[in-house]
Amino acid sequence: MSFVKIAVVGAGCRGRGYTDIIASHFEEARVVAVAEPRDHYRTTMALKHSIKPELCFEDWKHLAQKPKLADAVIIATPDNEHTEPAIAFANLGYHILLEKPMAQTEQQCRDIAQAVLKNNIIFAVCHVLRYTSYTQQLRAIIDAGLIGDIISIQHLEPLGYWHQAHSYVRGNWRNERESTFMLMAKSCHDLDWLRYIVGCRCDKISSFGSLKHFTASQKPKGASSRCITCGCETQCPYSAKKIYMERAQRGEFEWPVDIITSDLTIDGVEKALRDGPYGRCVYECDNDVVDNQIVNILFENGVTVGFTMTAFTEASDRKTRIFGSRGEIYGNGSIIKRYDFLSDKTTEIDVTKSDGTINTGHGGGDFGLIKSFITALSKNDKSYILSGVSETLESHLMVFAAEKARRQSCVVECSKGGTII
Ligand SMILES: NC(=O)c1ccc[n+]([C@@H]2O[C@H](COP(=O)([O-])OP(=O)(O)OC[C@H]3O[C@@H](n4cnc5c(N)ncnc54)[C@H](O)[C@@H]3O)[C@@H](O)[C@H]2O)c1
Repeated sequence: MSFVKIAVVGAGCRGRGYTDIIASHFEEARVVAVAEPRDHYRTTMALKHSIKPELCFEDWKHLAQKPKLADAVIIATPDNEHTEPAIAFANLGYHILLEKPMAQTEQQCRDIAQAVLKNNIIFAVCHVLRYTSYTQQLRAIIDAGLIGDIISIQHLEPLGYWHQAHSYVRGNWRNERESTFMLMAKSCHDLDWLRYIVGCRCDKISSFGSLKHFTASQKPKGASSRCITCGCETQCPYSAKKIYMERAQRGEFEWPVDIITSDLTIDGVEKALRDGPYGRCVYECDNDVVDNQIVNILFENGVTVGFTMTAFTEASDRKTRIFGSRGEIYGNGSIIKRYDFLSDKTTEIDVTKSDGTINTGHGGGDFGLIKSFITALSKNDKSYILSGVSETLESHLMVFAAEKARRQSCVVECSKGGTII
């Protein structure tokens, strides 16, 4: 049987997640090559997928020096390592699944888009929210006209207090130099999703937000630099002992614990908290990304959107209210409630009952994305990708525009910004 050959660049959290899905669900695809500098992660992936030693590389550049050896490449490197591999592999004729965000600057995003168009490859950015059954059912309701015309939307992205501390204060996305600004790192999903739901380009955008809490000025008196030796730790919701050690003690070594160490034992976690970045006091880190931000969007069809991202929440299920001319929708990722103005009746869909993948990564979005990508490759048909390269570029440009609006306290007009020139 012929199968689609996949190379993976970056065998970290995301690279592992996607290739695990391929191995367990898609026999029409195989992971045949890996590029990863960290020995443990490269070897683990090679073992899991029986990758030949000569197809294991320490850097994506070594893989790119070889003649094309797979149909497609999954690029799951850190944010600052997307542009170069994306352009290199596009020029080699690989189809590409690129982790979000496309890149760190507007020009880099445009350069990637141009390389994709020039080489006419199948290309998807991992905007996983589009691919959930929840989103597809929501879109079906809207497309069927069941709430009439969308007039406005209120969308909340609740980060979750400990997730903010893990990823955006202590972790990989804590500062712009090493990754990117918060709206791009996290909420590029949401702005892309809103664009998908509204089905139209952004006209104008404004934004406010700040790093309000996770700063040195908020550090409790007497707190030390590491939670493991801190006298205030038991009173701190962001305590690294609470976030990681308590999970480990319950035997829960999956995310986020497996991010802080590859030694998945109590001793391994303790060492990471003593010596590693995830044991630091949240008020004494080199973080600079915001912990709260709001964005207002006017789309070209007149739909208005108010978006809020905040760290200071319990859980991280997004919540959306869509206000239509004939009805209103409330959705939270698993339930969709529709109130109909004519009948004054509420209809409820419990997506958990119709979708077995909802409890997998990103509400089934990781699975849905991989399924679409593999199908697009097998059938050589780009239409399985829910966001073409132009629309993906456009939604990234929206994010850059919103950030510009926040920094400059202005309204940015971006209706012409999505054109690839
Ligand atoms: N789609 C989503 O919902 C989602 C969620 C989380 C993260 N991400 C994005 O996925 C990307 C990866 O994130 P992650 O959490 O897997 O990070 P990670 O640090 O766990 O994995 C990145 C891997 O890339 C490897 N790498 C670094 N330089 C390399 C090189 N030159 N060649 C080959 N490999 C190299 C690293 O060693 C690491 O193992 C980031 O861009 C991140 O923003 C997307």
